[in-house]
Amino acid sequence: MLTRRNVLRAGAAAGVLSTVPASLVIGGRSGVARAAESPFRVPLKVRTPLRPTRLAGHDFYRLTTREADVTLLPGTRTRIRSFNGVMSPLIVARRGRPVVIEQINSLNVPFSMHLHGGHVPGGSDGHPENEVKPGGKRIFRYPNQQRASTLWIHDHSHHSHAENIYRGLAATYVLTDDFEDRLPLPKGRYDVPLQLRDAKFGENGALDWDLHDFEGRHTLLVNGSPRPYFEVAARKYRLRLVNTSNERLFLLQLGDGEEFTHIGTDGGLLPAPVPARTLQLWPGERHEIVVDFGRYAVGRKLVLNNTYPYEGEAPEVMRFDVVRNAPDPSSVPATLRSVPDLGTSAVEREFTLSFNARTGEHLINNKPFDTDRVDIRPRLNVTETWRITNADTQFGIPHSLHPHLDAFRILDRNGEPPAAGEAGLKDTITVMAGESARVQLRFTDYTGRFMYHCHMLGHLQMGMMGQMEIGR
Ligand code: C2O
Ligand code: CU
Ligand code: CU
Repeated sequence: MLTRRNVLRAGAAAGVLSTVPASLVIGGRSGVARAAESPFRVPLKVRTPLRPTRLAGHDFYRLTTREADVTLLPGTRTRIRSFNGVMSPLIVARRGRPVVIEQINSLNVPFSMHLHGGHVPGGSDGHPENEVKPGGKRIFRYPNQQRASTLWIHDHSHHSHAENIYRGLAATYVLTDDFEDRLPLPKGRYDVPLQLRDAKFGENGALDWDLHDFEGRHTLLVNGSPRPYFEVAARKYRLRLVNTSNERLFLLQLGDGEEFTHIGTDGGLLPAPVPARTLQLWPGERHEIVVDFGRYAVGRKLVLNNTYPYEGEAPEVMRFDVVRNAPDPSSVPATLRSVPDLGTSAVEREFTLSFNARTGEHLINNKPFDTDRVDIRPRLNVTETWRITNADTQFGIPHSLHPHLDAFRILDRNGEPPAAGEAGLKDTITVMAGESARVQLRFTDYTGRFMYHCHMLGHLQMGMMGQMEIGR
């Protein structure tokens, strides 16, 4: 239920994150969820990439969306909605080499596949009007003509996306390129995608689904495993964090506030590495960090905590167990990747995000989504500035905005330049109640209809989406 207390609390999370009271964290330790499930019982599943058919000119995958019974909690089976029977699979793609996916829908609900962060033509973007009905199929073409970054594939169907994603339809999509290969960052088995999300399980291991009960999802899953442990070598790792939750903010902290290096965000590497001790990971966002386990002796165990748990909930997300020594030729260079210059904006737009308590609708510029309405008409190659204002001062609900097709850079938040960790290319930005941010972006290459929306999936389902027709 969306109650006043819930939203106020969500707002508090947003406001002054650095001062989240310790009592909340400790309060979580004695909760019900804690008793039900002790952490670190299962190893992390490090995903090996799905194997494409290598054809001349592109990599081909067949992804069947279907129900599957898998083990998420030890000793029980859980029915999920999956790609090819797997929870949170991984695709690794290469810049300049297109990926073509034939998606076959064997679910009994519609499905619309979207590559979040992907620069892809309209017909392959998962627009709800291109939903694949049960029993149907569709070809998706991802050109991969964009810089290396961590993306993800998820459902975008009109009425069931939040539930489909909750039930498992989220894949990680890592795009690599020559530029990153030349950097000495950790590679290969030391470069690990981690899909973070929450879930609520019933007695029998079934996934409980209620769009509004986002605070009742007390089990945290990493790559589909509940609060797993991960045996690591005493050296540096690159961790690609993806938040595939419907609504949860992860406020991450390592051990007792150990330092790590923030190297990337939604659109790829930051201009420069940023030493950090906490990280906000909002729904839909990706952040990449390098953790140097070489600082610790073999035998050390470091917990990754979510320091903003819901009431009655344990903070542990996963644990890193340093179990062996290993050589470490990797390093984090002092500069990473510069952000492209988007020039001067020729168009300014306002996006006001709000909640209508009377109707329960979440709105952009006072309107709920309407398939038949085009909200804005950007032109190809024309730079725009968008001001995003969260007007939910009554309830304090945080909102985000995610335009499809192209990433943006943040110009300012409440008039202040972005923090170093937000200075890279982004495609999803969260704005707290009563605050505003300006971003600069330019749509390129593809005309047609694309969406922009809040990535809190409950809000999206309740109308917080707009449509743009990109023209010449
Ligand atoms: Cu994750 Cu419309 O996006
Ligand atoms: Cu997207
Ligand atoms: Cu929202």
